[in-house]
Amino acid sequence: MRKEYQFGTLAVHAGEAPCLVTGALDTPIYQATTFASANSEEMAAIYGEQKAGYMYTRYGNPTLHALEEKIGALEGGEAALVTASGMAAISTAILGYIKAGDHVVAARSLYGAAYHFLDQKLPRMGASATFVGTSRAEDFERAIQANTRLIYFETPSNPVLDILDIQALASLGRARAIPTLIDNTFASPALQQPLRLGVTTVIHSATKYLCGHGDAMGGAIVGSKEYISLLVHEVIRDFGAILSPFNAWLILRGIRTLHLRMPTHCSNAQKIAEFLSHHPKVERVNYPGLTRHPGHELAKRQMRAFGAMISFEVKGGTAAGATVMDRVKLFARAASLGDTRSLIVHSASTSHRAVPRDQRLAIGITDGLVRLSVGIEAVDDLIADLDQALDF
Ligand SMILES: Cc1ncc(COP(=O)(O)O)c(C=O)c1O
Repeated sequence: MRKEYQFGTLAVHAGEAPCLVTGALDTPIYQATTFASANSEEMAAIYGEQKAGYMYTRYGNPTLHALEEKIGALEGGEAALVTASGMAAISTAILGYIKAGDHVVAARSLYGAAYHFLDQKLPRMGASATFVGTSRAEDFERAIQANTRLIYFETPSNPVLDILDIQALASLGRARAIPTLIDNTFASPALQQPLRLGVTTVIHSATKYLCGHGDAMGGAIVGSKEYISLLVHEVIRDFGAILSPFNAWLILRGIRTLHLRMPTHCSNAQKIAEFLSHHPKVERVNYPGLTRHPGHELAKRQMRAFGAMISFEVKGGTAAGATVMDRVKLFARAASLGDTRSLIVHSASTSHRAVPRDQRLAIGITDGLVRLSVGIEAVDDLIADLDQALDF
């Protein structure tokens, strides 16, 4: 696929071609664990990687390969690896960089399970992480130690929508010869392409906007050929977090409409954020598309649009937040995000329940914070639903 094609063309075509045997236009689901060779010599050559080919799905599968090509093209990366989930992408990517004795500098404002992995699991492997509570690159620099081998962050962050300066953190990493790893799940490559801003490696929960329909778990890592090859040979074959071919096919299918879904997600979210920010029962709205958001100007520079994740605090704390959750009719009370359907969740009791309360509060996840994943329904219906839910 020619690299100069525009994003929408790549979303539809990259990684996919008619089957050479049958002409099937859609990528088949290669629902096979194992692949036969013509003879023992060929089998040995494939196992020895002297010959390209497939042997066993944990080592590679054509449906997974098509998805790797597509996501790699959308992020503008040299190579990609797909994984069983977003957390599998995060843990696999980190394990590719970190060994016992190493140190990670990470943003404190992170998806809860990513924070938990860095905070609780790294020490079990003899490594450690320092969390930076601000979005300033200088504070990341101050946290660097002699054994720091990775800088890890997400922007916009889950669920408080902090915006971090991708270019500044990438430059910091380059200046100190430390790779930077970003979780690009909230933006998707349709809104933000961090490799083009100098970041070393990108991960995704493909469960979210890439799949887009709430029906398949998956993850992806995009980076240099050398690093992806290391993950293939040294991490994923041993830890085994590979994606199922069926889920790969669902995600391939979802991505073909990513460039069409995202503008509707984003314009719906902008209107909802504006509605909430003028509502007398709402204390605070976190959405980078609002001009008063501290990251608004930066988001304008590094994103094509402001995304479709919003969090807000209802006046009256936990009880008021719970009342809104219980009163919505169209929004589904459900975790996850990036679905065509609009979802509502209480972060402190769900995605961030593993984060100690004082640390939660320090990054703005107050007890009453409610997070919305704005879908692609008619926006007037979504606003009417929130309006009646707030009328108590
Ligand atoms: C920003 C972010 N990254 C990673 C993940 C983990 O993805 P998965 O649930 O596919 O493992 C999530 C899940 O909600 C997320 O919100």
